[in-house]
Amino acid sequence: MNGWDREYDISMGEYIELFDKSMRKEQESNIEFLEDNLSKMFDRKAVVCNSGTDALFFSLLSLKIGKGDEVLTTNFSWISTASVISMTGATPVFCDIDILSYHMSLDSIKKMYSPKVKAIIYPHLFGNMSDTSKIKEFCQEKNIYFIEDACQSIGSSYNKVLAGSIGDISTLSFNANKVVSGIAGGGAILTDGDTEIFKRLRKHGEGKHLGYNSKMLLFNAEVINYRLNKLSDYIKRRQLAAKYYDEQLSEYVTIQHNPDNLNHNYHKYVVRFQNKEVRDRVKAKIGQIHYSKPISENAMYDAIDHRKDDYIVSKIVSDTILSLPISPYITEKEQDKVINTILLLI
Ligand SMILES: Cc1ncc(COP(=O)(O)O)c(C=O)c1O
Repeated sequence: MNGWDREYDISMGEYIELFDKSMRKEQESNIEFLEDNLSKMFDRKAVVCNSGTDALFFSLLSLKIGKGDEVLTTNFSWISTASVISMTGATPVFCDIDILSYHMSLDSIKKMYSPKVKAIIYPHLFGNMSDTSKIKEFCQEKNIYFIEDACQSIGSSYNKVLAGSIGDISTLSFNANKVVSGIAGGGAILTDGDTEIFKRLRKHGEGKHLGYNSKMLLFNAEVINYRLNKLSDYIKRRQLAAKYYDEQLSEYVTIQHNPDNLNHNYHKYVVRFQNKEVRDRVKAKIGQIHYSKPISENAMYDAIDHRKDDYIVSKIVSDTILSLPISPYITEKEQDKVINTILLLI
């Protein structure tokens, strides 16, 4: 459930106008208006591409990370956060997470560091954010890049600092389940450095170097831009829905820990249950699991080179977590149904 169908019902005329406007133009260019809008929002340069996965992959390539290098990442996230490392030929090093935030643990980062580590890919999972200052200090001390995976956290901020403005390079995703979605996915790279490399990587066929086909088409860019301009409204609505879940559920399940000074976009509203059996019983009726296992337990890592810390916390969380339905357009009646189902089954 992401509510885009409901938004279309409300704003059909505006969507048709966007379609009509872009159908009269070349689809493979003219997307700079979206990059300009993102640049203004983040006060950095922006290059759009086909997906958040490509945005992360291109970030690593631009830093010349590849075979023989290691990259620290979390063992609890969507697979892209790690698979992009292997795509470059480098070795992912899986760190465990913090039990309250579900974000990468500094202790695990320190434990898993080796002189081969060239970067860290750090996602603000579920749109929530933690204080990353100690991790950034560690990166500076070791001279490694901090790649901020802000794919789930567009519009979130911590101490008034926006997700997407913290990393040496930061990335966004506009896939169908994100707070701002394109109709055909999409991604963006945010940087204060050179953007030419990203433009070259997203469009092959020109120049001396290998590139990829990762262009964003115009109509998709129009839809993303339209939704980007509604982002603060989406977030307010999601926060109201989250508050209602918090009020009704906090006595019965573990709700997400939110630090003070967090402006949470509630990309996901997650709760945890006392054990896997109860979680699975509730899941049979409602919700989705993000994520059902630590990344290193995916079968592909049987054959792919990696290192990993003990992942006790990642395992506990993946066994007990559930994402409840949330969108800017969810109704209180729909939320009541979710709440009552949980109360009946725990
Ligand atoms: C944390 C995180 N990183 C990266 C990605 C990759 O984004 P995309 O699906 O646009 O390739 C996602 C998407 O689900 C994500 O949630």
